[in-house]
Amino acid sequence: AQRLYGAVRYAVFNGGKRIRPLLCYGGACAVGEVDENTAKIAASIEMMHAYSLIHDDLPSMDDDDLRRGKPTVHKAYDEATAILVGDGLQALAFEWIVDTPDLTPLQQVQLVKLLSKSVGFDGMVGGQAMDIAAEGQSLAPVELAQVHARKTGALIEASVVAGAICANATDAQQASLNTFAQRIGLAFQVMDDVLDVTATSEELGKTAGKDIDSEKSTYVASMGIEGARDYTETLLSEAIDALNEFGDAASELKQLGHLMVHRSF
Ligand code: IPE
Ligand code: IPE
Ligand code: MG
Ligand code: MG
Ligand code: MG
Repeated sequence: AQRLYGAVRYAVFNGGKRIRPLLCYGGACAVGEVDENTAKIAASIEMMHAYSLIHDDLPSMDDDDLRRGKPTVHKAYDEATAILVGDGLQALAFEWIVDTPDLTPLQQVQLVKLLSKSVGFDGMVGGQAMDIAAEGQSLAPVELAQVHARKTGALIEASVVAGAICANATDAQQASLNTFAQRIGLAFQVMDDVLDVTATSEELGKTAGKDIDSEKSTYVASMGIEGARDYTETLLSEAIDALNEFGDAASELKQLGHLMVHRSF
């Protein structure tokens, strides 16, 4: 068990960009305030994300040796440990959502539903399955959008909306934030595809050029590097437009949106 906890720390405290917790804070700021509850929910989302990366890197998935500048969990430890750390982080994420005494039971249930849907068969897991099935194929633009929306977009949407739920957002506010997150979530994965080709392994902290090696269906494969880059700009401005009604309260989200597209790793 000592070894398992070591692997959990190795997987979580290792220099991720923490984009999703920041999006959760941004969603809360847009409609109200960030407090202890938001922090708990933001952490639970990052645990969910960390689990997804550990499993994404497994030999039976993307088979990656490098993550955040260090050997992947299955390399530093072993495959069984990597699977178990992922499983455990997923469970812990849900435990933390309901360990929020200042949220109402209704808010807790809404958050559990939101997060579970976003990572489940219609969300991340479904998207990961589609991503693997699409290796060696060239997907139609609509299908590719589906893969990206599920494997990456769903958790990003949930991150923003979760923050909003913590801050008691109305349904209308949640809908606008969802539109922002949908556009920026797609832009984020399109940029991930671009960086896989344009950046070095040192910059990325993960093996560059992996998508071509694995014959992945990516936006770069479908529209070229420049086309994909231009598309992220279109998506970014659509995302920012969806925040109009929030005025200055959405300045954190806007800044984050820019960072998610204009990044080098
Ligand atoms: C990587 O996510 C996987 C994708 C969904 C593109 P991030 O780029 O947020 O990874 P970390 O958390 O900063 O390592
Ligand atoms: C990862 O997408 C999506 C999830 C982990 C759910 P990628 O396979 O493109 O992520 P990287 O490039 O390995 O970080
Ligand atoms: Mg993958
Ligand atoms: Mg991968
Ligand atoms: Mg990638």
